[in-house]
Amino acid sequence: MRGALDPRPDKILHSSDRSPSLGGIAICPPDTQQHASESPASSPFRRAAQVKLGAVTFPVSNGDAASQDQESCEVEIDGARRRIRFHDYERVYEVPGLYERLFRDELGARSPEVVCELLGEQLEAEGTDASKLRVLDLGAGNGMVGEELKRLGVGSVVGVDIIDGARDAAQRDRPEVYDDYLVADLSEPTPEEHARLARHEFNALVTVAALGFDDMPPRAFAVAHNLIPRGGWIAFNVKEEFVGDGDTTGFGAFLRRMVESGVIEPQARRLHRHRRSITGEPLHYVMVVATKLADVPLDWAEPPK
Ligand SMILES: C[S@@+](CC[C@H](N)C(=O)[O-])C[C@H]1O[C@@H](n2cnc3c(N)ncnc32)[C@H](O)[C@@H]1O
Repeated sequence: MRGALDPRPDKILHSSDRSPSLGGIAICPPDTQQHASESPASSPFRRAAQVKLGAVTFPVSNGDAASQDQESCEVEIDGARRRIRFHDYERVYEVPGLYERLFRDELGARSPEVVCELLGEQLEAEGTDASKLRVLDLGAGNGMVGEELKRLGVGSVVGVDIIDGARDAAQRDRPEVYDDYLVADLSEPTPEEHARLARHEFNALVTVAALGFDDMPPRAFAVAHNLIPRGGWIAFNVKEEFVGDGDTTGFGAFLRRMVESGVIEPQARRLHRHRRSITGEPLHYVMVVATKLADVPLDWAEPPK
């Protein structure tokens, strides 16, 4: 098992420090990273989209790049042009294939693949058979991560997302992927929701591109973490800035405390390009695969007063 790594990017992620290797852990040069492009048609898990998606255009910048959660585009859907804000997930998921088209095809997003690849590498290094994993996919969206987990060969995957449209899209587009899919806010799960998840006896938590912004607060991540037993796997990625010193989401301090207090032990960490912004700038995320060592007190996840 590799030693614990501090997830603070200032230790590894200075722009001058994006070297191919650090402390024995390879760091992919984020902007040159190549991944096999998955053809949706070749996916054994994904149903073909039933709508016709035409040209996508991005607003011309007036010099001020839109913040990541305000980005939008115009797209032709069945012949009509519509403006879509990226973080309006309900509207994105309701159009089959739109999420994949915008984020993967237009903006080069590869987070589901690369986080699951890193998890797969660590399982192999530890001699763990992927089929033994019972995974909680937190912020599961329309199932792209679940699909990658199934490709990795995990035994079962359960999705959780806060919006109905995510579950509906996953069931519509990838009906074979999830063993169960719960719509809930894990910040405050009801006893019934908690019991439903606990029955799955997870031994791994995976959360991709869902932490921070107005998305997932640290508390939802903490509740999910506590559903995993000691020795289980925790794999996630998070925007580089959110684990830096200037972070305002609360994730930086929360994750740092989890590592420094021995709640998780990172096994591997890599900087990667999550996707491009609409102006073509790389958006970097840090991905981490860790072993769970202890439950996390929920009050650590409270927003700073
Ligand atoms: C960018 S999408 C990522 C989806 C998927 N993980 C992927 O990588 O394709 C973020 C997802 O997190 C979900 N989400 C946001 N806040 C959440 C919360 N508190 N609990 C569960 N899911 C949440 C959103 O609804 C959205 O589907």
